[in-house]
Order: sequence, then structure tokens, then C-alpha cells
Amino acid sequence: MTTAPYPALRMRRGRSSAWMRSMLAENRLHPSDFILPLFICEGSGAEEPIGSLPGASRWSVDRIAAKAKEAASLGIPCIALFPNTPNELRTDDAREALNKDNLICRATKAIKDAVPDIGVLTDVALDPYTSHGHDGMVDGAGWVINDDTVAILVEQAVVQAEAGADIIAPSDMMDGRVAAIRSALEDGGHQNVAIMAYAAKYASAFYGPFREAVGSLGRLKGDKRGYQMDPANIEEALREVELDLAEGADFVMVKPGLPYLDVVARVKDAFGVPTFAYQVSGEYAMIEASAAAGAGDRNALILETLMAFKRAGASGVLTYHAIDAARLIQG
Ligand code: PBG
Repeated sequence: MTTAPYPALRMRRGRSSAWMRSMLAENRLHPSDFILPLFICEGSGAEEPIGSLPGASRWSVDRIAAKAKEAASLGIPCIALFPNTPNELRTDDAREALNKDNLICRATKAIKDAVPDIGVLTDVALDPYTSHGHDGMVDGAGWVINDDTVAILVEQAVVQAEAGADIIAPSDMMDGRVAAIRSALEDGGHQNVAIMAYAAKYASAFYGPFREAVGSLGRLKGDKRGYQMDPANIEEALREVELDLAEGADFVMVKPGLPYLDVVARVKDAFGVPTFAYQVSGEYAMIEASAAAGAGDRNALILETLMAFKRAGASGVLTYHAIDAARLIQG
């Protein structure tokens, strides 16, 4: 590339008017870039605000379809569902995860019945169902047992697919779960149910508000560093993605989002597959706290951070700001 030196070339010419900036924009946000995570609770007519996630709530099953309809009407293509399992149903073996009538299955059916055109993504992991808050079965030493956990995750995935889930998203970071889930979905006649693997999921301090939302916060003994990735690593993330793709993942995800955009960019460059990012609860809370403190304009912070995902190469973003952002984009 040859570049004429100043003053022949003035980069600011390209920034000199709104139409010029619009014409030259390399990336654009669109409502179809977003996946909206929603939390579900028991009860009827219920909306439970989540303290550490201001502006987000848990909704009872009878109100979830209305939220899905609102998202669909704004052009948001997909919803991710997370349950707040009643305390008395949380056990060491997470058996409520396999109940065909659990919160996730009822919410999935309610949405698919009322809003057939929006996708439903369901999370495969046991933390909303275990008494100890870990994503799998735990042995006496506190270690999450890989293969026993995978066997349950497979059943959980099939139960979700039978309820109508379109995308199964394993967020547990067990080894070998994608292959096991893919083969069970094929055997069960769910060939069109996709897998979005949380392929590079880090042991992060940014998940706090989510754990409050699903009710696992006070329960968690220890931490998740025995299965989620070390924030120091990126080569390992590429290896995780390669493995999940080899096992049959259709799409991959990097999580958290903003602090891990380098990982998003490397994964997208290396594999060229649909690569999603999860702007997680702590990131959302940071933006809200910053805006509430008067440190920045809320709408601008939302759009700028979401644009950063596009620039890094993300195919889409799971974000609690999906509805706000879709409204802002549509003006
Ligand atoms: C559970 C799961 C977590 C998130 C999504 N699925 C929490 C965790 O791993 O502890 C976090 C999402 C967020 O913080 O918004 N396996």
C-alpha cells in the first residue's frame, strides 16, 4: 500500500460529515446481531428484578412469551433461557435438569407456541440445579467429575431438544461433551438442533450478577477454575475451539466478551466459523454502574461496546442490552 503523505492525504476528510462517516463505516450494528438472555422463575404474573443486574428481571413462564414477542418485533433472532430453580429442587445430582416439565422446558414450549419465528437457545450445565452451585457432579474432594457429568448433560440436552430448543449451548466446559451431545441429538431425531459450544469460557470474576439471577451465588463452594479456562491463556482457547468443532459444534462462543476480544478475533481468523461472544452480566453491570454514576452516556456506552464485538469479528453477541440496543439502532 502506498500512502500519499500529508498534506495530500488528510484522513479527517473522511470524518468531515455525518453522511461521509456513514458511507465509510466498516461495521454496522443490526438487531439480528443480538441474542437476548432471559431468566425464568416460578409463579404466575411474576417479575422479579435482579439487584445486581439493574433493568433485568426474572419472568414467570406465563410472561416469557410476551418478552419473546417484544424481542422478535424488534428483529432480535434468538433468546437464551436460564432458570432460577426453586431451592427445594436443587440437589447434589441436579435431577431437576432432567425433568421434562422444569422451568426451561415449560418456557421453551411457551415461546415456541406463541412466537414460532424466534429461536430458543438453552444452556446445558448443571449449576442452576445443583445444591453446591457447580456445573457438574462433585466428588468428595470437590472435583467436578467429568464423565459422570457428561452423561447427565447429554440427557439434559435431549430433554431440552424435545421441549423445542433450537440451539443447545453447553456452558459447562467438561471434556468430550459436544461429541456426546451431538450423537444423542442425532439418535433422538434432532438433526436440525444446532450446538453452540461455549468453547472458550473463562473462569471469570464477571459472572457475579448471573449467579445472583439463577440463585447459585451463595451456594458455590470454591471456584470453577478446575473446568473453566485460565484468563492468562489464548493458545488453549484455540485448542478448545478446534476440539469442539471436531466434535460437531456448529457455532462457537467466547465468554466473557469485552475483556476477551483478542480471543474472539483470533478464533474468527483461525477457523472462520460462526463465532459468538457473550457480553456477560458483570460487563452489563459495569456499563449500568458507569452510566448511573454519570461517568458516561448510557446509550453511547451500549452501542460502542457492542460495535467493538463486530469490529473484532463476532458473528453475534449475547447481551442483556439486546432490547435497548435494537431500539437505539432502529431510532
Ligand atoms: C453457567 C453459566 C454462567 C453464565 C452462563 N452460563 C455462569 C458461570 O459459569 O458461573 C454466565 C453468564 C453471565 O455472567 O452473564 N454455566
